Amino acid sequence: MARLSHPALEAWGEALGRELRAPRVVTLAGEVGAGKTTLVQAICRGYGVHDAVTSPTFALVHEYAGAVTPVYHLDLYRLRDRRDLLHLGWDELMSASAIVLVEWPERAGDEIPTDAMRIVLSHVADRDDVRDLEAHG
Ligand SMILES: Nc1ncnc2c1ncn2[C@@H]1O[C@H](COP(=O)(O)OP(=O)(O)OP(=O)(O)O)[C@@H](O)[C@H]1O
Ligand SMILES: [Mg+2]
Repeated sequence: MARLSHPALEAWGEALGRELRAPRVVTLAGEVGAGKTTLVQAICRGYGVHDAVTSPTFALVHEYAGAVTPVYHLDLYRLRDRRDLLHLGWDELMSASAIVLVEWPERAGDEIPTDAMRIVLSHVADRDDVRDLEAHG
């Protein structure tokens, strides 16, 4: 567990992005405004993505060109049910030769691969400038 300022969180994400090797699924949990998209943007920079990285709110998934493989960025906040996962091509995404970054993974329940890296971000009481970060796997 680490308590990170905004620049520290970005540096952590960029370092992770430099280390990631496809295929890899990374989930980013945490409430609205916790910093999931901020961290996705940093991971993508570290992985060599030059495209603009924006939250795929309505499309549910965005694809970016990384230096070595694509990056798929999913935001499942608006996921309604399992049929939406099917329409996304969930099984193909989870086994793609790519980096797959998933915001709101809890929406997919037990469909998240068990070997995914799981990151949890949380607000800190009375502190708007830092976030607590936990990472497993
Ligand atoms: N230490 C910090 N780490 C990350 N973000 C921070 C930090 N301190 C302040 N912020 C701010 O918190 C906000 C995080 O927004 P972001 O869109 O990344 O959250 P999110 O978890 O993706 O939210 P959503 O659930 O709406 O997708 C940004 O405005 C960012 O500037
Ligand atoms: Mg977001």
